[in-house]
Amino acid sequence: MITSPSTADPLAAGLPDVAALERLANQFFREVSGSSPSPGGLAAPAGVPAAPALPTTPSIPTPSFGGHSVPGLPVIAGLPSVPGIPVDSDLKALLSPAPPSTPQLPGFHGEGLTVLDPRTNVPATPRPGDLTRGPLVAPVPFPAERIRQQFPILAERVNGKRLVWLDNAATTQKPQVVIDRLVKFYQTENSNIHRAAHVLAARATDAYEAARESVRRFIGAASTDEIVFVRGATEGINLIAKSWGAAHLKAGDEILVSHLEHHANIVPWQQLAKSNGAVLKVIPVTDDGALDLSALAKLLNPKVKLVSVTQVANAIGTVVPVAEVTALAHAVGARVLVDGAQSVSHMPVNVQAIGCDWFVFSGHKVYGPTGIGAVYGRKEVLEASPPWQGGGSDLRAHAVPWGPGPF
Ligand SMILES: Cc1ncc(COP(=O)(O)O)c(C=O)c1O
Repeated sequence: MITSPSTADPLAAGLPDVAALERLANQFFREVSGSSPSPGGLAAPAGVPAAPALPTTPSIPTPSFGGHSVPGLPVIAGLPSVPGIPVDSDLKALLSPAPPSTPQLPGFHGEGLTVLDPRTNVPATPRPGDLTRGPLVAPVPFPAERIRQQFPILAERVNGKRLVWLDNAATTQKPQVVIDRLVKFYQTENSNIHRAAHVLAARATDAYEAARESVRRFIGAASTDEIVFVRGATEGINLIAKSWGAAHLKAGDEILVSHLEHHANIVPWQQLAKSNGAVLKVIPVTDDGALDLSALAKLLNPKVKLVSVTQVANAIGTVVPVAEVTALAHAVGARVLVDGAQSVSHMPVNVQAIGCDWFVFSGHKVYGPTGIGAVYGRKEVLEASPPWQGGGSDLRAHAVPWGPGPF
C-alpha cells in the first residue's frame, strides 16, 4: 500500500517536480519490496539503506516470443506480487502468442505478411528487398467463406450463379471496410485538402495526410515527403517520364525496359524517346520467363540513364529480383524505376531495401478505390523533377521544381 506523502500532494498542484517524483518512487520501492530502486534508477535518499541490486541484464533470462528470443526484454524473477503491478508470470503470459480463435491466415495477419513459396506452400526465404518483420505462420486452409463475407459484391448472382472473382490482377473488388470509409468521407469530411481553414478542410487534410503515412509505411519509404499521390501506376510512370525524364534525358541516352513490361511501362518511354532522341532498349527474358540478368549486365553501360522494370510481371507472374537489378544499374550511374502494380498485393515491399529511385503502384489493385495510386520517389530525384502539371494548389510551380512536399 502506498500511503500519502506527509507534505502537500504535489500532483494536486499540477505537475510534480523531480524531487517529488523521486521521493514518491523511493517510498513506493520501500513499501513493495523493502528495497530502494535498482542501480541506474532513482537514487535512494540519504538515510535509506541501500538495497540489494536487482540482477543485471546478462544474467536475466530472455523471454521467448513464438519460439524466437526477444532480446532487450528481460524478465526479472522474484519480484513480489502487488495489485496492479505485473510480475514475471504476467509478462510471460503477455509475451506468449494467444492461441488464435480462428486460424491465422498467410497474408491475413496484420503487418507481418507472409510470403508463401507457391511450389511448396511454406514461407519463402526472404530476399533482399523483402520485408521480414512479423512472425512466419504455418500454412492453413484458406477460409474462403470468411473472406467472401467482407466483399459485398460477391453476394451478386451472375447468370444465376454466385459470383466468383478471379481477375484481381486487373482490379480487386472492394471490402466493406473500404466502401464504408469512402461513405464516411463524403458524409462527414468532404472538402478541399490544403486549401481552406475550416473544420471540414482540416478533417479532409488530416485524412489525406494520414493516408500518405499509411503508404509510406506500406512500402517502407523513409519520409512522407517521398510519397506522391497519383491516379494509378500508369499516371505515376507518365509523371516520371514527362517530368524527370524530359528534364534529364537527352538524345543518345539509353533507357532499358524488359520484355515483361505492361504497356504502362513501355509507351511513356517510347513517347519520350521519340520526342528527345533517347534510345529505348529491351532486356530479354530467359526461356523459363525470368529476366535475363546476364543480358542486362551486357546492356548496361554509362549511356544507360534509366532502367525501368516491373517487380512482378502481369502476364506471366515472373518475380524480378529488383534489388539486384537496382544494384547493377546504379553501378553504371543509371536511375531505377520499379513498377509495383502487381507486386504490392503479393509480397511485402520495402523500397529502401530495394534501393530503387522510384516505385509506383495503383490503389485499385490492392482493394482501394479506382483513381488513386502512389509514386515513391527518393527525395533527391523528386527535387530534381520539374512540375508536370500546373495549377490546382501548387502555387510554387512557376518558381521552384517540386519544392518540399506535400504533392
Ligand atoms: C505491371 C503493371 N503495371 C502497370 C499497370 C497499370 O496500372 P493502372 O491501370 O492501375 O494504372 C498494370 C495494370 O494492369 C500492371 O499490371
